[in-house]
Amino acid sequence: MDAFLVSGPCRISGELAVSGAKNAALPAVAAALLSERPVSLDRLPAVADIRTMKKLLSGMGVAVSGEAPGTVTLDASRIVSTEAPYDLVRTMRASILVLGPLLARFGEARVSLPGGCAIGVRPVDLHIMAFEAMGARIAVEKGYIHAHVSRVGPGRGRLTGATVRFPMVTVTGTENVLLAATLARGVTTIENAAREPEVVDLAALLVSMGARITGAGTETIVVEGLESLPGMEAPHAVLADRIEAGTYATAAAITGGDVTLRGAREEDLPAFVAALRAAGAEVSTSEAGLRVSRDGPLCPVDVETAPHPGYPTDLQAQWMALMTQASGTSRIVETIFENRFLHAAELVRLGAQVRVDGHTAFVSGPARLEGATVTASDLRASAALVLAALVAEGETLVRRIYHLDRGYAAMEEKLSSLGARVARVPG
Ligand code: UD1
Repeated sequence: MDAFLVSGPCRISGELAVSGAKNAALPAVAAALLSERPVSLDRLPAVADIRTMKKLLSGMGVAVSGEAPGTVTLDASRIVSTEAPYDLVRTMRASILVLGPLLARFGEARVSLPGGCAIGVRPVDLHIMAFEAMGARIAVEKGYIHAHVSRVGPGRGRLTGATVRFPMVTVTGTENVLLAATLARGVTTIENAAREPEVVDLAALLVSMGARITGAGTETIVVEGLESLPGMEAPHAVLADRIEAGTYATAAAITGGDVTLRGAREEDLPAFVAALRAAGAEVSTSEAGLRVSRDGPLCPVDVETAPHPGYPTDLQAQWMALMTQASGTSRIVETIFENRFLHAAELVRLGAQVRVDGHTAFVSGPARLEGATVTASDLRASAALVLAALVAEGETLVRRIYHLDRGYAAMEEKLSSLGARVARVPG
């Protein structure tokens, strides 16, 4: 298993190209299942989750080709299976995103239940509820979701447009229904829809494939279903990864550095950028992207995670790392996931002062961090440990970096290019 060996402390500076967003690329790849016509995507990030999604589609008979790194053409004209097997789904929860497209185009799908993960139970009941509202019959047997639409009766194997009101905001739930609704009979209205930029990017891709969608980015999305999607004319470039950008922005702030993040957009991260400024960092927007630097001291800033445009849960762990260096006590409230403070105990191993009480963490600083061996527990927690290691005295070994590789492209190379000392080592 790989680990990162980080030698600190350091100050990072320079310019970095932000990769395509993992969380936009995953539904984009799944979207290819909707059409007989090829779907071409640009700026796919080189991360493990995207490789898993491509493998999942290959297993279904999708021809996957790509001439250059980051580009792919997916041809789903000859599907041989509508099943997503446990072996792949268990490594990546977002595999559930194939359920909507398969059900919409073929009237059936068999998708393994994702199961639990380190950051909580994360059920898929809202996805199931939505597809039932659209006319699917769903049974859960032997760990698999069996979904089908009756071939007799009004739908004749096609989903029926419906009003789907989510009782809580769900990002992949919204995306799954959005995908499926493009091929449903009639109009689907998604209420209390997720407003994340990744949802907007997916809608833009689907529209380029011929779908009829309005309202993406608002609470209500309306989709007029079509019998088939006519196909796209030009490749769709996946939007820049705002979580990766936020992670490197935090790296600049924690090390007192100065980094320009090419492709990053402030409007994708309003609450995070506001918190960063309040903490004492300078953030400016230019044509190129976002520039983040810090000269003065770090101030404690409280954050509470919330659906977009609120503070993203995917930048909560990184904020905890940053706050270990602020002068005073800050409070971090996690409202989206029930078990997302696993990084706290590992940060404490480096010398951080963090107390967790239920959904709230209290961080006192500035703490003098010292290198140690720590273990990554999930994707964003891994990033928090690397950020803390950048300012810790001496060597930190961050183990189980495979979590990090799921969502960050070549982090050791990107950080090294900015002057950090980070090496991938066995461990
Ligand atoms: C997506 C992101 C993930 C991010 C999360 C919240 C992808 C691939 N992943 O995950 O990085 O952390 O949004 O911004 O885009 N819930 C249910 N039942 C459901 C679905 C969700 O109870 O059927 C709950 C979840 O347990 C959680 C909350 O709803 O408490 C929000 O989860 P959701 O937005 O669905 O997260 P994901 O889409 O899985």
